[in-house]
Amino acid sequence: MNLRALAAKALFDVLEKGLSLSVALPNQQQHLTNGKDKALLAEICYGVMRALPQLDKCVSDCLSKPFKGKQRIIYQLLLVGCYQLYFTRIPPHAAISETAEACRQLKFEGMVKVINGVLRTIQRNATELSTSNDTLKFNTPAWIIKRLQQAYPDDWQHVIEQSHQRPPMWLRNNRNHQTRDEYLALLAQADIAASAGSSPDSILLESPKDVGILPGFFDGAVSVQDGAAQWAATLLAPKDGELILDACAAPGGKSCHILEQADCQLVAVDFDENRLQRVKENMQRLQFTAEIIHGDAANIDSWWQGNKFDRILLDAPCSATGVIRRHPDIKWLRKSQDIEELAELQRQILDHCWQWLQPGGQLLYATCSILPQENALQIQAFLERTKDATLVPIAQQAPAETGWQILPGTQAMDGFYYALLHKSAQ
Ligand SMILES: C[S@@+](CC[C@H](N)C(=O)[O-])C[C@H]1O[C@@H](n2cnc3c(N)ncnc32)[C@H](O)[C@@H]1O
Repeated sequence: MNLRALAAKALFDVLEKGLSLSVALPNQQQHLTNGKDKALLAEICYGVMRALPQLDKCVSDCLSKPFKGKQRIIYQLLLVGCYQLYFTRIPPHAAISETAEACRQLKFEGMVKVINGVLRTIQRNATELSTSNDTLKFNTPAWIIKRLQQAYPDDWQHVIEQSHQRPPMWLRNNRNHQTRDEYLALLAQADIAASAGSSPDSILLESPKDVGILPGFFDGAVSVQDGAAQWAATLLAPKDGELILDACAAPGGKSCHILEQADCQLVAVDFDENRLQRVKENMQRLQFTAEIIHGDAANIDSWWQGNKFDRILLDAPCSATGVIRRHPDIKWLRKSQDIEELAELQRQILDHCWQWLQPGGQLLYATCSILPQENALQIQAFLERTKDATLVPIAQQAPAETGWQILPGTQAMDGFYYALLHKSAQ
């Protein structure tokens, strides 16, 4: 099946069925063998997600009536066609004929005329994409714009612009294999331009690379992980011999980093059994062992009868609004009311995990959100109701801030939030 048809299928799965693009895209990429084709499929799908409102308007303006039901896939195919005309260097005649061919392959022979007609009209008119309201101007749903305006009255436009950038690729040096400087030297030898990031193991690549060409990748010399996410293990500061809980562990990036930093007893838990498979794979590649448990972090008593934990990492389920640059589908999959529901879930997990922290222990609360309801406001409310909790200031956090809010693009990192909490020794 041609690449445009596969793109339409992936977009249909996201926009009509609510699948995340990180699941829907590989499902379609597996039908391609050529690496360049896989990359173009990704480029088209991610691109459509980034510019959805403008593409939507451009296509809808050319249609007399909306597509319904199964025919929606032809609408998604039109978005694919429109994206190629506006955002790629593919010659328009090739973009249009390939997209029409995709329509045939999707078994909508009768719609080929519509595809050709709409895409030719768009090509002929060659008008600027509309910016007539904020959603179109920023390619972002109104509810996210509103929440960002409230949270960052001076910086919200910058935050949105950063969320549209193509994300860089970060590596995490495995300090058990070599020092970061040694790995930077290996990269230089392999002609891969890179620099050290602000967290101790992080390396920023000048341009993204296939992991297959990274020296020692398959032996566990490095892992792929954003620079912001790499602060988790460093701020948690695990020590040899400690009992540590990673309460929301899948796919296991932070769990592995904790084990690279200390010879501790790690319990890695997640609610999602499928995602736990990824934790196992990551541990295998890096040759670590941990107790991997399928369980609910808001009901630890049901799966743990051991001691209380010396340290807990709570990388809570969240809106992921800090990583829109990596997952632009978040803008369309999340709804405004999700934020209050997520904040309530985070509150329950946080309160429960706290019961399982040793007196004198520390809990690191983390999200990849940039919304205060999930971050500073969540922690302020926790501190008010929890008498034995105090906030440990993180060096980078602003003096008046509760926790450390990293905005997307800061030092090339994803948007992230950290709050380090200490439990009084009794
Ligand atoms: C932000 S992700 C964790 C990422 C992970 N820490 C890493 O670095 O690879 C949040 C995780 O929380 C899990 N989760 C959601 N609700 C949960 C619950 N009640 N108990 C345990 N895990 C939960 C989700 O399945 C998801 O894998």
